[in-house]
Order: sequence, then C-alpha cells, then structure tokens
Amino acid sequence: MAQTPPKSTESDADPRRHAPATLRNRDAILAILPQAFGSALQILEIASGTGEHAAHCAPALAKAAKGGFIWYPSDWDAENLPGIDAHAKAAMADSGQPGCIAPAQRIDVSQADWTPQWTQPGQAGPIEAIFCANMIHIAPWAAAEGLFSGAGRLLPRNGTLTLYGPYRRNGQHTAPSNAGFDASLQSRDPSWGVRDLEGEVAPLAQCNGLSLHRIETMPANNLIVIFRKD
Ligand SMILES: C[S@@+](CC[C@H](N)C(=O)[O-])C[C@H]1O[C@@H](n2cnc3c(N)ncnc32)[C@H](O)[C@@H]1O
Repeated sequence: MAQTPPKSTESDADPRRHAPATLRNRDAILAILPQAFGSALQILEIASGTGEHAAHCAPALAKAAKGGFIWYPSDWDAENLPGIDAHAKAAMADSGQPGCIAPAQRIDVSQADWTPQWTQPGQAGPIEAIFCANMIHIAPWAAAEGLFSGAGRLLPRNGTLTLYGPYRRNGQHTAPSNAGFDASLQSRDPSWGVRDLEGEVAPLAQCNGLSLHRIETMPANNLIVIFRKD
C-alpha cells in the first residue's frame, strides 16, 4: 500500500519526529537518487516532513561525492523545522559528513515566487536538483502547481525534479490499496488525492519547461518520477 501521511512522534526533550514509512522506503529511494541527481551537488528538498530522508540520504550521497555536496531541507510547516535540524545534526555526526545538510528552512511552494535561502558559507546556488517525497497528493493541487512552477524557474537546463509517491497511470489506480488510500485522502480533504501521472502531472511539468525523463517502480505501489528541465 502507498504511504499514509506520517504519524509522527515527538518526545518533549527531543524534537525529532519519526514517520514509520520512511524506514521502509528510504533505502529504495537512496538507491535511485544518484541517477536522479547525476553530478548535482546542491539539492533542495521540498516538504521534508520529519527530515528522515535528508538524514538518511544526504550523508551517503556526500560521501560518494567526496566534497561539496549539500542537501537543503525545507517544509511549509515551521513546526517541522527543529526536528529536521535535530535529525540532520545526529546524522552528520554519526556519518562523519559535517555540513552536508543545511539548516532547514520554511518554504511554501504554493506561494508565487518561492525561492530558497542559501545559508551555507560559499554556497550561492543555483539549485541543481530538487527532491520531493509524498507531497503532491497530500496537499492541494496548488502545491503541485507551485512546485513545478518553481522548478521550471529555478533549475538549470538538464536540472532534475524528482518526486516520490503513489500515482494513477492513465487515469487508473495501479493497485486497490492505492484506490483506498486515494479515497481516504479525499475524505480528509477534497483537494488532496493521488494524482494522475499522464493526465495531470506530466502536462503540468510540460507547461513549466520540464519533461518526464524517467519512471522507477518502487515498493508498496509507489513510483519515483524524474522530470528534467528542457
Ligand atoms: C506526507 S508529508 C511527507 C513528508 C516527507 N517528505 C516524507 O515523505 O515522509 C507531506 C509534507 O508536505 C508538506 N507540505 C504541505 N504543503 C506544502 C507546501 N505548500 N509547501 C511545502 N511543503 C508542504 C507538509 O508540511 C508535510 O511535511
């Protein structure tokens, strides 16, 4: 079944939150990211949530890059930012890859002209790749529109936008569990829902100068979809 919205947990003393699904999908995601990012060293993550994808993936990618790699986490919800930073601090210490994750910043992609702040010394952009997991179906369609609009505006030619999550294909759900998930999302908020890759998402990408580059099948009826700036 596709990922349900994270049921995060947080203790009083430790701001780190945990989305159980991340433990199940993070290795499969990490296996694809080197192909998705190519030689990109400055990665912007939209909708980081708990920050566990950043904490798991950034140190491994930084180690492979042998210098200069920085992952910029962000989220619309300011309450998520301390937990993201706490995960990042622990991950960087454990991995011996200091500086590979920047402080989390608040970005609401549904705001026109959203743009990241370059907070690391010596870093001034541009974004070379964008990663976003499990947002476009758990947010109003305006968030997808703003994500693609910003990616089209900010990415260099051949820069990639990589999305992870469940999709409908050509108008059809790919599994009964995804159909059930879609219904539960729409019952929580009618503006949410599993998006159609061919009918909705790829056309939105095209309108913003991005082409569907690659589709990777992932566990639990999810996909990684990589769009590339024309
Ligand atoms: C289901 S969670 C996914 C979190 C994480 N990426 C993961 O896969 O575990 C959805 C996230 O999208 C964020 N979000 C919702 N609307 C957003 C927007 N307009 N701009 C940026 N982030 C947004 C929420 O705050 C939340 O952290």
